[in-house]
Amino acid sequence: MNKIALITGAAGGLGRAVAAELVAEGWRLIVVSRDAGRLAEAYGAAHLQIEADCSSVAGVRKVFEQAAAADLRPAALAHCVGNIRLGPVHRMSEADFDDCLRANLVSAFHTLGGFVGALREARSPGAAVLVSSVAAQIGTPNHEAVAAAKAGVEGLVRGAAASHAAVGIRVNGVAPGIMDTPATSAILASAAGRDAVARQYPLPGLGSAQELARLMAWLLSDRAARVTGQVWAMDGGFAQIRPLVK
Ligand SMILES: NC(=O)c1ccc[n+]([C@@H]2O[C@H](COP(=O)([O-])OP(=O)(O)OC[C@H]3O[C@@H](n4cnc5c(N)ncnc54)[C@H](OP(=O)(O)O)[C@@H]3O)[C@@H](O)[C@H]2O)c1
Repeated sequence: MNKIALITGAAGGLGRAVAAELVAEGWRLIVVSRDAGRLAEAYGAAHLQIEADCSSVAGVRKVFEQAAAADLRPAALAHCVGNIRLGPVHRMSEADFDDCLRANLVSAFHTLGGFVGALREARSPGAAVLVSSVAAQIGTPNHEAVAAAKAGVEGLVRGAAASHAAVGIRVNGVAPGIMDTPATSAILASAAGRDAVARQYPLPGLGSAQELARLMAWLLSDRAARVTGQVWAMDGGFAQIRPLVK
């Protein structure tokens, strides 16, 4: 397997953390955002930078065409596109729900499709990691939209892992609890807000993009060569155990 990795949502909090981990492990990167300026701000002139929207088939096609034109054919995919749209099912607008599905599920489906299609055409092995959320596994108030979208991502992980295992393509997911990234800056802005969120988790503290990025880098590496079809929780115990009343 070559050491070329594609990171989508690469200008975001998790995307940047994954990029740092993969560079440290000797990968060459293709980084994607809808905004070239954000990529330049994050990476300067480093890496192959592609401006595209991975939530459409046309956007994904552009990514693989530009990568191939630069003679870069990724063997690893870290799909870090997504958003958080909170609100109960009866109060969420159609536009917000559509945006949530598009960012979290539709983008994962099309990006994985482009990645797997290119690998299969080249008869090459590879590994992908998609990002779910604790909300897919345990009912969490006001998370209906993101829970539905991320549950779809987890189904996609298992389905695609089954389809492509025989040709050496691994597909896994990660399911974090809340992490301190731009997506959660409003929720975690105040000390009181951070404290209230942290108290919901059995383990003390809040998650970080760096620790999830280390898990994602491991899943993409040959060290995880026998791992596919799994969704790995990294959530301070949120989805499986109850916290003591604090
Ligand atoms: N932060 C958390 O607490 C948390 C918890 C559970 C799961 N997650 C998941 O972790 C992943 C990374 O999130 P993050 O925390 O790093 O957030 P982030 O900093 O906001 O990065 C997410 C990136 O996704 C891209 N994006 C957002 N909406 C999009 C849309 N409609 N179409 C295409 N691209 C879109 C944006 O990229 P551009 O604008 O640059 O194109 C953005 O930079 C997401 O899947 C998120 O759902 C995060």
